[in-house]
Amino acid sequence: MTKDLMEKIISLCKRRGFVYPSSEIYGGFANIYDFGPLGSLLAKNIRDIWIKKIVQERNDMYLIDGSILMHPKAWEASGHTVAFTDPLIQCPSCKKRFRADQLEGWKLEKDNQTGEWNVLDQGSLICPDCNGNLIPDVKEFNLLMTTSIGSIEGEKTKVYLKGESCQNIYLDFLPIRDTMGVKIPFGVAQIGKAFRNEITLGKFLFKVREFEQMDIEYFCSPEEAKKLYEEWKDIRFNWYIDTIGLSKNRLRWRQHSSEERIFYARDAWDIEYKFFDEFEELEGIHDRSDYDLKQQGKFSGKTLDYFDPVSKMRFIPNIIECSGGLQRTFLAILAESYQEEKVDNEKRVFLKIKPSLSPYKVAVFPLVANKDNLIEKAKDVFHLLKPEFMIMWDSIGNIGKRYRRQDEIGTPWCITIDYQTLEDNTVTIRDRDTMKQERIKIEEIIRWIKEHLNV
Ligand code: GAP
Repeated sequence: MTKDLMEKIISLCKRRGFVYPSSEIYGGFANIYDFGPLGSLLAKNIRDIWIKKIVQERNDMYLIDGSILMHPKAWEASGHTVAFTDPLIQCPSCKKRFRADQLEGWKLEKDNQTGEWNVLDQGSLICPDCNGNLIPDVKEFNLLMTTSIGSIEGEKTKVYLKGESCQNIYLDFLPIRDTMGVKIPFGVAQIGKAFRNEITLGKFLFKVREFEQMDIEYFCSPEEAKKLYEEWKDIRFNWYIDTIGLSKNRLRWRQHSSEERIFYARDAWDIEYKFFDEFEELEGIHDRSDYDLKQQGKFSGKTLDYFDPVSKMRFIPNIIECSGGLQRTFLAILAESYQEEKVDNEKRVFLKIKPSLSPYKVAVFPLVANKDNLIEKAKDVFHLLKPEFMIMWDSIGNIGKRYRRQDEIGTPWCITIDYQTLEDNTVTIRDRDTMKQERIKIEEIIRWIKEHLNV
């Protein structure tokens, strides 16, 4: 995807109510966005289908919805208070901050135990923004956001917003183990907010400061971890192709090098997608060993273990983690589905989103807006479909314009009520991608759409 296309997507997102910059009336708020009416529906559809595939269709998964605020010790135990850092350089002239490891010619390495950055190669000292001189003073910049709890000034406790959503799955391991009758291997799924003080600006939804992660933490015995890790890698890669509709040639695997890999992980791979001109991370899949439960156990004084009734062994479960970003999946869907073509010498823009994910499934039109009998019949069809699907009504402008409006927001089908409808109770149903129309009976519409939604 070129930068030009990215600009078109950003513009469409704003114009058609998918994504708005947060607090825009105050000039916006860097790297923070709201989902608008259309975007909220697309995001909801992504969440719903993830829960359906990961929780509903499996027998070994439990869903939780954890709080954003957690005991601050949890973030000490996880290492985030020390090691969740980026190396930062600030330009003394324009005051812009940059990640030193992303500046031209710079090479840095993070010590995973201490969180400190070692400069291997010092690159350009020219500010990319104002061309001023940079001072090679690399500062540790912690990505965790903080707030405070308590009402009396001076007695407030500093707490953290979740830097990664998964942490309360580890904290809830004990109550889930004790209340749900679980048998290892099993997993816990959660879609939750994460907050990070990201320095890099201007990558639209790809790098935001408030986002949602769709996390799977799969608890297993150490012996099974390697096999299950490979199974989850397959499941997650195929999900992006089969369920989300991304093309295989824009997806790839990238293994973390030993320097990049977090020190306790036995293996780590990213699923990458070609959003712009480059492949970038969409989801991370980690074999996290028993580190998380051991650490949280150590800091809380509780033993987070599991007794296997078959082998009669007691052990701390290993964890396979699959962590994907909702905003990145959303952006990938738009990047993949944005299409332009020439129709009758005019540009047609359409979003070729999988119908199951499209914000609206159907738009209902009366052929013309000034004939009462057509409007009345179209309203009947509208009210018939409304309890079943997210649908839209449109009677403004000519049919061609209405089709274009729906194409641009990815509505897979448009139904038109015309004069023939009044005679034989049939309607035209027009396909977004092929623009072909067929006539079907009103009483068949619901079945027809359900059938096509499952394709
Ligand atoms: N618990 C593991 C974890 O947090 P991560 O690789 O830092 O791992 C997982 O994040 C996923 O969350 C990424 O693959 C990406 O999809 C999403 N993500 C991370 N940082 C993000 C950001 N600043 N903006 C949008 N999505 C982000």
